[in-house]
Amino acid sequence: MKIVRSIAELKRDHSVSLGFVPTMGAFHEGHLSLMRVAKSHHDVAAVSLFVNPTQFGQGEDFERYPRNLDRDAEMAESAGVDILFAPDVSQMYPRKTTEIQVSGVTERWEGGHRPGHFTGVATVVAKLFNIVQPTAAYFGQKDLQQCLVIQRMVADLNLPVELKFEETVRESDGLAMSSRNVYLSDSNRAIAPNLYQELKNIRDGVLVKSASVDSLLSSAINRLNAVGFTVDYLELVDLDTMAPIRDLEQDAAIIVAARLGSTRLIDNLRILLNSL
Ligand code: PAF
Repeated sequence: MKIVRSIAELKRDHSVSLGFVPTMGAFHEGHLSLMRVAKSHHDVAAVSLFVNPTQFGQGEDFERYPRNLDRDAEMAESAGVDILFAPDVSQMYPRKTTEIQVSGVTERWEGGHRPGHFTGVATVVAKLFNIVQPTAAYFGQKDLQQCLVIQRMVADLNLPVELKFEETVRESDGLAMSSRNVYLSDSNRAIAPNLYQELKNIRDGVLVKSASVDSLLSSAINRLNAVGFTVDYLELVDLDTMAPIRDLEQDAAIIVAARLGSTRLIDNLRILLNSL
């Protein structure tokens, strides 16, 4: 595996297909499974590792975000990655005079709670696509709204990249894998799986109509609060637009963001009508 630190060193060979996994490092099995899929479908698998400052707000965890290039490089190599692109901030942002703002799908949920977050994400992902020039790019569905924002950006800007959104990888107790899980204290780690459990409870309730959607959501919020979470949002939304819905007439998702101690967790559970 080649570790590349500068944009100038990245030379795209257009005779091969390239599968790309953009990341901020601190790899876990979720990242590794994206890397393996990228490698299995393309001649070359490339991964970027860049903790992007522009997608973190004031008071968020940019400074403490876990960074360990040697460990990550070993893990990426073991997953079959050919190129690890790990630029520093001055490579990626010699200036910050151009931004990409995707409207319509960024105002609510993560975008509402983290103003500017998706402008940072869209801008860095567009830059990475232009630098790496992938055939296809792979993202995890845990960041469901991010997937929608990137899909909208790629369509609106006619970017020549195929997008692949892969299933969330979970710990055996259901907790969605995330680089931020390392922040959890032992006691909060034991509580954290309640988040996914509540998503499943709501899905089951919505499917059998055991109560109204509003009351299923508010009961779940109360139970989460009772075990120590502070819920930023918990909603049933249309999968394509992420607008809140109350009837299951289209593919949907239950989305959640909640804080547990100093850790902010997000998760979601999709309800696909044709798989019911
Ligand atoms: O999902 C992430 O890790 C980041 O938001 C991404 C897509 C690498 C952009 O910095």
